[in-house]
Amino acid sequence: MYPVIEWKNDKVLMIDQRILPLREEFIEHSTYEEVAKSIKDMVIRGAPAIGVAAAMGIALGILKSGDNVEEAFKKIVDTISSTRPTAVNLFWAVERMKKLFAMFKDDPPLLKQKMVEEALTIDREDVEINKKIGQNGQVLFKSGQTVLTHCNAGALATAGYGTALGVIRAAVANGKKIEVVADETRPYLQGARLTVWELQRDNIPVKLITDNMAGHLMSKGIIDAVIVGADRIAGNGDVANKIGTYSVAILADYHNIPFYVAAPVSTIDFSIETGKEIPIEERSKEEVTNFMNQRTARPETEVYNPAFDVTPHHLVAAIITEEKILYPGYKDEIEKLKTLFE
Ligand code: MRU
Repeated sequence: MYPVIEWKNDKVLMIDQRILPLREEFIEHSTYEEVAKSIKDMVIRGAPAIGVAAAMGIALGILKSGDNVEEAFKKIVDTISSTRPTAVNLFWAVERMKKLFAMFKDDPPLLKQKMVEEALTIDREDVEINKKIGQNGQVLFKSGQTVLTHCNAGALATAGYGTALGVIRAAVANGKKIEVVADETRPYLQGARLTVWELQRDNIPVKLITDNMAGHLMSKGIIDAVIVGADRIAGNGDVANKIGTYSVAILADYHNIPFYVAAPVSTIDFSIETGKEIPIEERSKEEVTNFMNQRTARPETEVYNPAFDVTPHHLVAAIITEEKILYPGYKDEIEKLKTLFE
């Protein structure tokens, strides 16, 4: 398995996801500022992976800070928190590190050790959680099915194994024959560049389509189910995920195809009631006016470039978590989960 993110000799290593699948290169980070820049620039991306990177970035920052940990911690947290606004796992990881900071801040050498340990725990736990999501979710799939996915919710978007692709991996491991159809996922091409790369390495059959082909394939009866990851899930089950997910959910609904979401409980934002409260990241205009560093529109062209959209809960057939599969009536289900995690 390729390491998505790794703590090594007090440095943070990440595979550079911007250049996959053309080249497999790793970037070494010695400071929290470098980690923050890599989150912002999408060297690492995907909600759970961003959470792990945030925790490691904070640990790295504290490890390299002097004895005035209070001042350093605030600056580190502010920098890490301002990288990407939508994936709630980042803020969840920051909160976890904040709790630890409050417990050990009066003993800086111990604090440094505890922060590194906590970041490594978050990393390790994420893989275990994904395997549970996979095992829980695979029961929804039958051998012989063709499953459409959007963006990359695989090993590369997590500490390993993946959420949506983790469910596919678990189904295959349980002896089911599954074929995947991957949306290329303009503008950043996570589907074409990352999902296809990952599945091919695991010998899971995959066919790539451009985003505008999904409806046609559904109308021809080629797609049996859709499964995607999530960046933030609201209290009522509304799901923020990669831009284009909402369109796929509407298409699936029209064609009576189940639309599943796979995500860890840390992706549920218990503090918000609906998807309207989810901040949607706007990214640079060049992602739309250019393709693979080649201009495809005049430079003065104005664009919209929201990186995520919100799929309303009524279009979601089930939300697969490590605890259980949630079915419609999400408000009550999520309320019950909340009590478990308080
Ligand atoms: O902009 P990205 O690549 O970070 O967006 C990633 C997604 O939208 C994923 O589908 C989501 O984070 C779930 S990853 C398990």
